[in-house]
Amino acid sequence: MIETVESQSHRRLGRLRQRAALRDVFRETRLSPQDFVLPIFVAEHDKDAGGIASLPGVRRHALGELPRVIDGVKRAGVRAVLLFGVPGTKDESGSAAAASDGVIPRAIERIKVCAPDLAVMTDVCLCQYTSSGRCVVHDEDAGEQRATLDMLGLIAVAHARAGADVVAPSGMIDGGVRAIRSALDDAGHDQTAILAYSAKFASCLYGPFREAARSAPSVGDRSQHQLDPANTRESLAEVAQDVAEDADAVMVKPAGSALDVIARVRESMPGVPLAAYQVGGEYAMIAAAAARGWVDERSAILESLVSIKRAGAGAIVTYAAVRAAEWLCEREDRSP
Ligand code: PBG
Ligand code: ZN
Repeated sequence: MIETVESQSHRRLGRLRQRAALRDVFRETRLSPQDFVLPIFVAEHDKDAGGIASLPGVRRHALGELPRVIDGVKRAGVRAVLLFGVPGTKDESGSAAAASDGVIPRAIERIKVCAPDLAVMTDVCLCQYTSSGRCVVHDEDAGEQRATLDMLGLIAVAHARAGADVVAPSGMIDGGVRAIRSALDDAGHDQTAILAYSAKFASCLYGPFREAARSAPSVGDRSQHQLDPANTRESLAEVAQDVAEDADAVMVKPAGSALDVIARVRESMPGVPLAAYQVGGEYAMIAAAAARGWVDERSAILESLVSIKRAGAGAIVTYAAVRAAEWLCEREDRSP
């Protein structure tokens, strides 16, 4: 019906694109600094701080650098950060991940002092902390699954106790959300929210992150846990499962290659808060092309981010959060 009406009409869709002001007024999707979450790598030891070759402009920060970083985040109008720890020691069970004086609890405490209004989210996984680089605990007695779930609960509680607002299990471990929810509730942290990495596709685009977090698996590629990039229905089942386990929000990644999944989660589960992660490889590809002058960096980043939002994502995790927020503010300042 609608199609017939349109084809007979003299409607010319281009009329409203003739002037910047009209394009601005009728724009359907608007990016705002408040959409963004900045991932931050925090090194336990100062000697591990430094730049990351495959992520230009991103650093592993020493704890002492956090006040300056957070100041930039606040000034740009970004409201949330997602913390990843780079611990000083690794072992078979990843025990440093659950230490109450570990790198992440210490980082949270520092951030809460300089920015009490900022939302602090933390990664809950083992791969930076296990000597194998695996997301599961090696435990012959208890069995890997049970030991891993117990460990995830302990990590989440350590983060919540230090003041984390949101914990984000990223390992796609079956039962992980439920285990974390009960551990948090039992410890009295019933207000700490869970952002589940529900639809995380096994991707080569995590390479730069693994360089940054020093978390590359010594064997395999995590496809035993993460989704096959060919599978849509399975990704929706993962989201439904995490929601059933009481995840407060779910995440899809890599955002740019899963725009269809973002859109389908948004449509099929309209009540579920949805985040998307523009992962290191996506950022690195834009940065590499921009460094050669092959694409304009600012346009490529803003275009990728508005596309993620257009697909249906609420929060967007991106390494470009602060710069993108600054670009958006400059754009608003521009007078006609
Ligand atoms: C660890 C984790 C990964 C990312 C976030 N947490 C990747 C992985 O599976 O190694 C990816 C983030 C990025 O690539 O930027 N479980
Ligand atoms: Zn992991």
